[in-house]
Amino acid sequence: MCGIVGYVGKKCCADVLVDALSKLEYRGYDSAGIAVFTENGIEIAKSKGRLADLSEKMKNEGKPDGNVGIGHTRWATHGEPSDVNSHPHRGGEKVTIVHNGIIENYKKLKEMLIAKGRVFVSETDTEVVAQLLDLYYEGDPVAAIARAMQDVTGSFALGILFADHPGKIYAVRRESPLIVGVGEDERFIASDVPAILKYTAKYYLLEHEEIALLDENGVSFCDMQGNTITKELLTADWDMDAAEKQGYEHFMLKEIHEQPESIKRTVMPRIENGLPDLHECGITPESLRNFRSIYIVACGTAMHAGMVGKYVIEKIARVPVIVDIASEFRYREPLIGEGDLIIIISQSGETADSLAAMRLAKKLGATTLAVVNAKGSSIAREADMLIYTHAGPEIAVASTKAYMVQISVMYLLGFELALAKGKIDEAECRRLTALLLETPDYIAQILERKDEIEAMAKHLLDAQSLLYIGRGLDYALSMEGSLKLKEISYIHSEAYAAGELKHGTISLIYKGMPVIAVDTQKALHEKTVSNIKEVKARGAVTFLVCGESYQPDADIADYCFRVPEIDDLLMPMLAVVPLQLIAYHASVQRGNDVDKPRNLAKSVTVE
Ligand code: F6R
Repeated sequence: MCGIVGYVGKKCCADVLVDALSKLEYRGYDSAGIAVFTENGIEIAKSKGRLADLSEKMKNEGKPDGNVGIGHTRWATHGEPSDVNSHPHRGGEKVTIVHNGIIENYKKLKEMLIAKGRVFVSETDTEVVAQLLDLYYEGDPVAAIARAMQDVTGSFALGILFADHPGKIYAVRRESPLIVGVGEDERFIASDVPAILKYTAKYYLLEHEEIALLDENGVSFCDMQGNTITKELLTADWDMDAAEKQGYEHFMLKEIHEQPESIKRTVMPRIENGLPDLHECGITPESLRNFRSIYIVACGTAMHAGMVGKYVIEKIARVPVIVDIASEFRYREPLIGEGDLIIIISQSGETADSLAAMRLAKKLGATTLAVVNAKGSSIAREADMLIYTHAGPEIAVASTKAYMVQISVMYLLGFELALAKGKIDEAECRRLTALLLETPDYIAQILERKDEIEAMAKHLLDAQSLLYIGRGLDYALSMEGSLKLKEISYIHSEAYAAGELKHGTISLIYKGMPVIAVDTQKALHEKTVSNIKEVKARGAVTFLVCGESYQPDADIADYCFRVPEIDDLLMPMLAVVPLQLIAYHASVQRGNDVDKPRNLAKSVTVE
């Protein structure tokens, strides 16, 4: 979704803004712009397209010259991607803003403003806020912001320039994230930490309904009544390298390769004496034992990690787990209450539906546990209990390393719960925990064989559509494999429980249709093989991902990738890697923008 940056310092503001925005490209955008205080007042440069288009435009038409300004990458919601709809937007002569989020009542506000004689140039909800601020502005920026916020509903973060307060940036947020960075002689606002990492690791987290003021003297914060707020200065533990490609062709490939380290960082600190220990996250065996039922609620890939969690927890802890899509959960009057545990999984910690689902669960009296990657994000801050995953910044839109650490946490939770419930003994828990710690080495071995997968992916390029099939944990994995492929290669695919095919879907199989079968679960092997034979007999070209001890006949697999074998329960940790790489190579080979697939945004802060 949209990205906001702002700069107050001594450097060429336009250059810093464009550079900082480039670190937010992963959020997804279709236009970009900046506004800078210059000798001639606030000058705006904006353009549809990529940051390169904006830079080109500034090269041809002149770059706003100054040291203080705001910038924006827009992911279109209200109005098509176009120069005029791009941010920043002016509200009359005095106010210029950039905005992330959605103004839900913009139509009503726009009508009111038009009735007062205001003229609009864009189709955006943002321009409505700019005009509203201008309407209420009588020389006191904080008073105008506070007054305008009373009228506005929705979630948003704003960076604001007032023409008669040169050198100053105001910022405010409701729900949508915003940080205020503090470097040597320079200050920043940004939607996310990677935007400022090159300049500083120190930042403040702007809270809900707080206003920030940045100028050459420093930064200050107040509430809507103008009362000063003292805030804690935080230090980002992500270094610059984490937000750079470091020689990899794409962030996605880099992040796939970072998985072994991400697992170690996430799992190792949560192991004590060979057993999972999550007490620092607020989780104890006693607390786990007492929950009546468990829900896992998330979106997309994070929801697929929840599916793995369901199979793992149900299998070894024998507790029923319901996995739900956050956007469904929140609107279907879920049957939850006191005594239920709701696990929310989210990389960004800002996904609007997941956040709303968590708030609903809290309101209904359930206990919430967040599994989140982004430090200090809304979901992380509002949950009753919190397990941070330590994947580091995930820049590619397609989630890989975040998924990997999310499922690692599902294992830790499953093991601890199973032990707490007496479903496994300490020796078995130790054995499983030790195996989890071995997975990074196995993954590293698989990554060394990426050429084999690249060759396999070549055979998918012309497919109109394909299927992923599997049973049990392999089905959960198939869902993730299928999502990865479609989101970045744009090849249509569906995941099916292998045993369900003959209830309808098998009619789709045509001669030459690729079917990717995941077959890592020994207990289900015979059944899965039968299903593979069924599609093969109908002309499918089969790609098998299986354990290394299985030597499939030609009537089962046209192509095969065998992964090292550990306990069946942990096989998703290994088998997901070839699926990620198949998607990656298919996308590269089709010439797509791998890290920024069309229409998608990294952090989905609108419903
Ligand atoms: C797909 C992907 C998305 C996210 C989903 C939830 O590769 O990344 O499906 O998993 O948008 O995002 P988070 O985890 O930030 O809540």
